[in-house]
Amino acid sequence: MILSHLMPSEPLVESVVRMFSGASGNLSAEQQAQLVTEYREMPFCPTADMHGLWGLLLSLFDAARLTTLDPPFEYGLGEDLRILDVACGRCEEAVTLPAFFARNLPTLSSKSIHFFGTDLRENMIRLANNYCGRTCSFFEPWVGGECSPFCYLLKSGDATSPELWMHLPESFDVVFCRHQNAWHGVEIWTRIFNEALQRCKPEGVLIITSYFDREHQMATQLLSGLGAELVCSIRNPTSRALKAPGKSIDRHIALFRKRGMLL
Ligand SMILES: C[S@@+](CC[C@H](N)C(=O)[O-])C[C@H]1O[C@@H](n2cnc3c(N)ncnc32)[C@H](O)[C@@H]1O
Repeated sequence: MILSHLMPSEPLVESVVRMFSGASGNLSAEQQAQLVTEYREMPFCPTADMHGLWGLLLSLFDAARLTTLDPPFEYGLGEDLRILDVACGRCEEAVTLPAFFARNLPTLSSKSIHFFGTDLRENMIRLANNYCGRTCSFFEPWVGGECSPFCYLLKSGDATSPELWMHLPESFDVVFCRHQNAWHGVEIWTRIFNEALQRCKPEGVLIITSYFDREHQMATQLLSGLGAELVCSIRNPTSRALKAPGKSIDRHIALFRKRGMLL
């Protein structure tokens, strides 16, 4: 599916602030507004690419609902939320992604959002930890660390190895892989996708984004062969071009569920 324009974006920054202050229950509207203003000034506030991803996720779920009318597309979210970001690199989306799904939780209680990110490269995980740490430290004086709904674990390791998966929960509501790299080793990525899909709850969703057209096609075929059902795929019309020809940020996004869940 190709959308000619993105849906208007819901406010990302406000949603992040709501996520962090969800369980504290004692922030007035004025304090929330002040927090939004101060957060916007921070170097770790979501970038333009994150605003792009936010709009793309909104479009993706709108498209999923339009694509599957009978029965209508839905995904399950319980009292809490577990998100896995596989091959997350420095994980720029570590706050954006939970904030997106947190909007659908009935309540935001203390530590109800668990975000897990993994990558082969230790230095990327160090950057990701630094980013999450700085963000949490910023919000802590306002909401109290113990009250914050958001908690995270970032771990370096090889996602083709059972060793890494032993340290992760058995199941996730959302499995995400941004700029998957299927082109650079079909066998490796078949194993990564297979493990990731196994950990996706039956009522959960698996989402990938891709830099390249061909790589997106490859990953979609790989996942379909592993038992994932493609719900919908969108070519991002405002994807930021990179130097390499045909490469751009979040050029495609696709949403899968475990096969059989739509029947
Ligand atoms: C194209 S990068 C995308 C990184 C990040 N998700 C992003 O959007 O910037 C692909 C990532 O896959 C990771 N990767 C490659 N093989 C892996 C493996 N076997 N286990 C875990 N991560 C792996 C790399 O370290 C790299 O960070």
